[in-house]
Amino acid sequence: MVSMRVNDEMTEVAVDADTPLLWVLRDLLGMTGTKFGCGIAQCGACTVHLDGVAVRSCRLPVGEVGDRAVRTIEGVGSTPVGARVQQAWLDLDVIQCGYCQSGQIMAAAALLAANPEPDDADIDAAMAGNICRCGTYVRIRDGIKRAAQHG
Ligand code: FES
Ligand code: FES
Repeated sequence: MVSMRVNDEMTEVAVDADTPLLWVLRDLLGMTGTKFGCGIAQCGACTVHLDGVAVRSCRLPVGEVGDRAVRTIEGVGSTPVGARVQQAWLDLDVIQCGYCQSGQIMAAAALLAANPEPDDADIDAAMAGNICRCGTYVRIRDGIKRAAQHG
């Protein structure tokens, strides 16, 4: 049994400690907004927050979460910066197919929480690991800048 805090609620799951967090979120907790892309920590589709820091949930054993608070795309809108990012994404129509976008939003929200006024180099560094097959990178950058301006 593993207990952890997900989107501000304590939860317990009957699962081996080495099960990746992504599987727990999607298959046991029904939070399917976090996506499986590569499964080897290379694409960013599975990005969630641990204590506000962006991590790849596909390679993180749930037993290593410990006391750190997990936040997913289902809960990021309840944080001020997450809400701003989501609104900026809507305002600028950032999304194309959408598959990568929960990971993009989680990475962007973590960036802005740590650095409220990122420049282009900061954005590139923070977002480099989040792949978008549809090539929405320009709109993602614009979305981050818009969310920053409205902070
Ligand atoms: S699915 Fe986790 S980084 Fe690609
Ligand atoms: S919007 Fe399609 S992969 Fe990014």
